[in-house]
Amino acid sequence: MASYKEKKLFTPGPLCCSRSVKEAMLHDVGSRDVNFVNCVRYIRKTLLEVAQVSAEEFTAVPLQGSGTYSVEAVINTTSPRQGAKVLILSNGAYGRRMNSICSWAGIEAIFQEFPEDKKIDLSAVESLVKGSVQYTTICVVHSETSSGVVNPIREIGQLVRQFQPNAAYVVDAMSSFGAVPIDMKTCHIDYLVSSANKCLEGVPGFAYAICRTQHLLSCKGNCRVYSLDLVDQYLNLEATGQFRFTPPTHTMLAFQRALEEYQKSGGLEGRAGRYRTNRRILKEGMKDLGFKELLDDSHEGYIITSYFFPKHPKFCFSTFYSKLSELDQVIYPGKVTKADCFRIGNIGYLFPEDMEHLLKCVRQVLGDMGLQVPLDA
Ligand SMILES: Cc1ncc(COP(=O)(O)O)c(C=O)c1O
Repeated sequence: MASYKEKKLFTPGPLCCSRSVKEAMLHDVGSRDVNFVNCVRYIRKTLLEVAQVSAEEFTAVPLQGSGTYSVEAVINTTSPRQGAKVLILSNGAYGRRMNSICSWAGIEAIFQEFPEDKKIDLSAVESLVKGSVQYTTICVVHSETSSGVVNPIREIGQLVRQFQPNAAYVVDAMSSFGAVPIDMKTCHIDYLVSSANKCLEGVPGFAYAICRTQHLLSCKGNCRVYSLDLVDQYLNLEATGQFRFTPPTHTMLAFQRALEEYQKSGGLEGRAGRYRTNRRILKEGMKDLGFKELLDDSHEGYIITSYFFPKHPKFCFSTFYSKLSELDQVIYPGKVTKADCFRIGNIGYLFPEDMEHLLKCVRQVLGDMGLQVPLDA
């Protein structure tokens, strides 16, 4: 029988979850079972509460799969089969992924790339949206998990609404929803996408879009991919309370528990507070060890941090990673293209004592590798 050691995941995902969230999965339920239908209803309703939007204006549509499936579903659903034009504002890997989604589907996209270590530049966005081109969808990533940059989605949304009133404004808030405040109203967001196993700390297996219902209904017939049609998924959920195809039942049970725990532990404020503390401990501890961050101090993100590889001949990332993993601490490779970095996440079921322990392990591993601290990074 395969067996796995419990490890702490300081990654962008999959992330650690509480034992009680995992235990909530220990039931086989039928997709038509009234308890399961109620579970789906509870999740859809509670997601709107977390987003602080009304059920008259918005609807939460869960979909099987990882986060990318829901991003792909939103882009495909909001893009008419004729005349779609998607503007992608990108400063990292997840913005680039949106561009791949469009090219895969044959959807015309204008891909505007910005430096990976800076927030998206608003004056450039203004010039783009002010022009004569009418976009059908404008997409941006909120917390670019590939670097840690948090983009100004409110200011971008205001420009979108002012100059492109008919475009759907899509925000990939995969790694921020539930832990970084997002006011969907003042940000003018039409579609917000996130997934079960991010800041709400469920287990992986489904993602969701919080959609402006009127806009969603106007998209009927757009989607080129049967299984990703969010309008169809929405209509079916409304009519029957059920997914169209086999739902991730165990994952949904876990997510219901995760939402209950989220609310009990102080909701957005509680989650943001814990992650901010995690980030502060990490930032101070890594600085004491001599590591340098990719982003300068003007960045206030507290989801994930990118660190430059130390410029020391004895530093080898794969050894560093493996030795930390042997101590049950899992970090992550970098994902920016122009610098050698690794990443450490603060999200998931991680607490200040976990961050302190990670720092002790990092110090130990550096010593084992023959690197003196503080590093001369
Ligand atoms: C901002 C962002 N978008 C999209 C994704 C893709 O999600 P998944 O890997 O669950 O498909 C991620 C994953 O971490 C992410 O952080």
